Amino acid sequence: MSEEIIKIPTHVAIIMDGNGRWAKARGLTRLEGHKAGTENLRGIIRACVDFGIKYLTVYAFSTENWTRPSDEVNGLMLLLESVVENELAELHREGVQIRHIGRLEALPKGLGEKVKNAIEITKNNQRLILYIAWNYGGRDEIVYAVQKIIEAGIPANEVTEETITNHLFTQKCPDPDLIIRTSGECRTSNFLIWQGIYSEWVFTPVLWPDFNKKELRKALIEYGSRERRFGKV
Ligand code: IPE
Ligand code: IPE
Ligand code: MG
Repeated sequence: MSEEIIKIPTHVAIIMDGNGRWAKARGLTRLEGHKAGTENLRGIIRACVDFGIKYLTVYAFSTENWTRPSDEVNGLMLLLESVVENELAELHREGVQIRHIGRLEALPKGLGEKVKNAIEITKNNQRLILYIAWNYGGRDEIVYAVQKIIEAGIPANEVTEETITNHLFTQKCPDPDLIIRTSGECRTSNFLIWQGIYSEWVFTPVLWPDFNKKELRKALIEYGSRERRFGKV
């Protein structure tokens, strides 16, 4: 039996897409699909810990997702709240550090507080750094960075790429090595547009609630087969 070589990226980012189609195929509501997607995330976090991945970023709610029907938006907010409430102790025990990218201030107040609390409690954990992209948009992140740079009074001629990187939500987090998008869509949908310039992309037709450890392993094998050149020869 041939053993395939898995190369472990430092930072994996995932666009968790396809919950709605997964639900539709089963005659379920979209929110039931999101619930299944959330349950799936638990297993993928553990798989990342097992594989020794250091950073995992998951795209869960975009700045454009506010345009969905209000029932779905409200349901998603409640879902995140219950995840933070119910999973925090276990994630903390497993050494997962929770961070958030996106604008927290636009979220329902109770939810924002719960997210801040989870960040505070887990801030010294080092096994896996988990970034939850919620109310996140890559363009909005660049606007945010520009706002912070102006607020800090940094003169225009001193602004470098590093200045911008350091003022993004992700700050000093290493750029994603691998970005996976589930559900067959092949676009960025406003995800990590600054950080992802040299990321390897893996697109899989598997819908997010079905994306398990075996599928992650396949994506890691695909990643391992790529030659990263970063513009060099
Ligand atoms: C991804 O699943 C979750 C969010 C964007 C919140 P979708 O809800 O986009 O599922 P599809 O793309 O409609 O199947
Ligand atoms: C991207 O998925 C955002 C998340 C997975 C959170 P969408 O389903 O919102 O993206 P589009 O609309 O298909 O591009
Ligand atoms: Mg979608």
